[in-house]
Amino acid sequence: MPRHDFQIPVTFKHRVVFTRNAFSPDNPELASILREGGGRRALVVIENAVAAAWPGLEREITDCFQTLPARLVGIRLMPGGETVKADETWVRKTWERIAAAHLDRHSYLIAIGGGAFLDAVGYAAATAHRGVRLVRLPTTTLSQDDSGVGVKCAINAFGKKNWVGVFAVPFAVINDFRFLHSQPEETRRGGLIEAVKVALVKDRGFFEWIEANLESLAALEPATLEACVERSAMLHARHIAEGGDPFESGSSRPLDFGHWAAHKLESLSAYTLPHDQAVSVGLALDTLYSARSGIAPPSLAGRVFPVLRGLRLAIHHPALDWRDSLDQRKVLAGLDEFREHLGGELTLLMLRDIGQGIDVHEVDYALVESCMDELRAMA
Ligand SMILES: NC(=O)c1ccc[n+]([C@@H]2O[C@H](COP(=O)([O-])OP(=O)(O)OC[C@H]3O[C@@H](n4cnc5c(N)ncnc54)[C@H](O)[C@@H]3O)[C@@H](O)[C@H]2O)c1
Ligand SMILES: [Zn+2]
Repeated sequence: MPRHDFQIPVTFKHRVVFTRNAFSPDNPELASILREGGGRRALVVIENAVAAAWPGLEREITDCFQTLPARLVGIRLMPGGETVKADETWVRKTWERIAAAHLDRHSYLIAIGGGAFLDAVGYAAATAHRGVRLVRLPTTTLSQDDSGVGVKCAINAFGKKNWVGVFAVPFAVINDFRFLHSQPEETRRGGLIEAVKVALVKDRGFFEWIEANLESLAALEPATLEACVERSAMLHARHIAEGGDPFESGSSRPLDFGHWAAHKLESLSAYTLPHDQAVSVGLALDTLYSARSGIAPPSLAGRVFPVLRGLRLAIHHPALDWRDSLDQRKVLAGLDEFREHLGGELTLLMLRDIGQGIDVHEVDYALVESCMDELRAMA
């Protein structure tokens, strides 16, 4: 018998569009996306907070579909924020809505909301019929500059962040800038941390741009905020599309810089600490560790901390000091959980310099703890 072993590369198209007023009748983006997909039915789900901030949105969507190449079969509102990721409740409700609307695999679920909402709805879309076509419209700084242009979605389980989920390329992502400007100020500002993160690990020029525009970025000037979101989103999307490991089967995770502590702080705080603030603390910690361990030049901290301070982002959280019955810092368990979540050997990205990450496989726990003490003193 001849053997028929084969290896065939599989390609995916990752469509990411930047625009404003996606549902305006003269905006061609959504029509072109739906036309390309050979549209059928479309169900729109909107996060409550977004619908409340944009009271005319449902009308706009209904009017817009008069000329779109797919039939609008409903607009449903749903809550967002971390509670929708806490368990399966909202995933199941989304499945029920997909089923009731008779969406098939050629139909679209158009989801408009923040990162937590998109994670839960995206997981439901990726698993209903093994995947209905998801068109994401992220509405927060973080979801536009990072999570919304990615290919992952998940909810929490067993006390762990993002424990159940899938890798699934959305049919399209539409970053509609107008949504950025209705977010609560804390969310609008907080999501900038993922832009600082991707600049630090990938693009020195972008970090220098952030430094040069610090004042206007800190003031959340619309044009600067939008430019920052777009550049960060492109760096994230390019890493996924061109970095050679879109579904993260290797151990290296440059986009997770600072995230081992962040994820643990989120679960220690029972998810009351938002992801952006947790990442900010985690990024401060791993930046300091990079500098104090000699991986990076000592001058690194002197560049990064003024940016974090200038943007008014957190560098410390009391949960860094919480201890278990053996008097160990609880957050350190995050290292093991991070390794287990990603698979393979422990791989943490540290900074060799601005714009240059380096994977490390061993950690000096005593030094991590002294960095935590230093952060407490700095904060
Ligand atoms: N899938 C991924 O690859 C990935 C990557 C990074 C982060 N995440 C996840 O993203 C989540 C955080 O997302 P987030 O920072 O967008 O927070 P969020 O989704 O919790 O939204 C923050 C707040 O803003 C409100 N809101 C959202 N858009 C608004 C708008 N335009 N106007 C007014 N209010 C608005 C929400 O209701 C919520 O109260 C975390 O759960 C994190 O784990 C996922
Ligand atoms: Zn993140």
